[in-house]
Amino acid sequence: MARVFSGIQPSGVITLGNYLGALQHFVARQYEHEAFYCIVDLHALTLPKDPAVLREQVKILAAVYLAAGIDPQRATLFVQSQVPEHSELAWLLQCMSYLGELSRMVQFKEKAEGKDSVAVGLYTYPVLQAADILLYDTSLVPVGEDQRQHIELCRDIALRFNQRFGDVFVVPEHQVAKLGARIMSLDEPTKKMSKSNPVPASYISLLDTPEQIQKKIMRAVTDVGSEIKYDPEHKPGVSNLLVINSLSSGRSMAVLEEIFAGRGYGDLKKDTASVVIAVLEPIRREVYNILQSTDLDAVLAEGAAKARAVASVTLRRVQEAMGVR
Ligand code: AMP
Ligand code: TRP
Repeated sequence: MARVFSGIQPSGVITLGNYLGALQHFVARQYEHEAFYCIVDLHALTLPKDPAVLREQVKILAAVYLAAGIDPQRATLFVQSQVPEHSELAWLLQCMSYLGELSRMVQFKEKAEGKDSVAVGLYTYPVLQAADILLYDTSLVPVGEDQRQHIELCRDIALRFNQRFGDVFVVPEHQVAKLGARIMSLDEPTKKMSKSNPVPASYISLLDTPEQIQKKIMRAVTDVGSEIKYDPEHKPGVSNLLVINSLSSGRSMAVLEEIFAGRGYGDLKKDTASVVIAVLEPIRREVYNILQSTDLDAVLAEGAAKARAVASVTLRRVQEAMGVR
């Protein structure tokens, strides 16, 4: 059975973009494949973090994974730092990666821009990500559009490694959805919806109340004109709401365009708020139930043990190939 791997950083709120672009696909894949889902706390350290806050965010993200429908009996859910093979393989892969290719990573350029001092970890971040993926002989990596370049780098590193040392790694492919792989910010629909945006009205958090969701969507920036049609280039605001609506309600773009023909932006916003609330409200309630009732440490410890059993075999194979074991 093909293996699936993906990860989310425990660095703040989980957004509707994370859910529509990634998490909902993780849930679907667990029924078709052997799946490994990771809370990538080591990646979160690339920007300054308060230790107590980080620990709390790991727990909340674990609860979000479960509330969204990840079943720990089907999928292996674990915390990256509890499987030390990730850091070890990352070092070995750093010796197989080039300054030039890492300098071309768009996410690094964006996060480093305008800063006087930048942690080396922010630069080597995609190599740790490659280690995450390659440790599990992964064939499929479901991610949002912004991670496509990182997965391509992972492929390049794996191919280079195999060429030099023999067939050690499975070369993975990304799986980026046609619709929803880049949910845009509500206040600036030409920018990606992001949890690191300091303006809370720009994103919807999975923990927002129905009132907050309603308010944010009603205030979303729309476009000139009045026609409701899917045209991301000329109507980025309306198109973003249509994508969010379509993915939340299960109605196709064509059906939505028909429903909203001749109606105003206000109607589209009201309807979008109601379908988003219908998806997120049960998840939000479930997150709080899980935080109170589930022994998350036990779930994550079991996940880490299952992950290590696979990761340690791959690491050993790599060490032997490179001559360090
Ligand atoms: P992160 O929160 O950066 O760890 O991202 C976790 C996953 O969510 C990755 O697969 C991202 O590509 C995806 N993701 C993040 N933001 C968005 C967005 N605005 N639209 C779609 N997918 C996203
Ligand atoms: N870098 C990814 C992000 O910010 C998170 C991540 C870490 C990841 N390791 C991964 C995603 C491995 C897919 C596979 O979204």
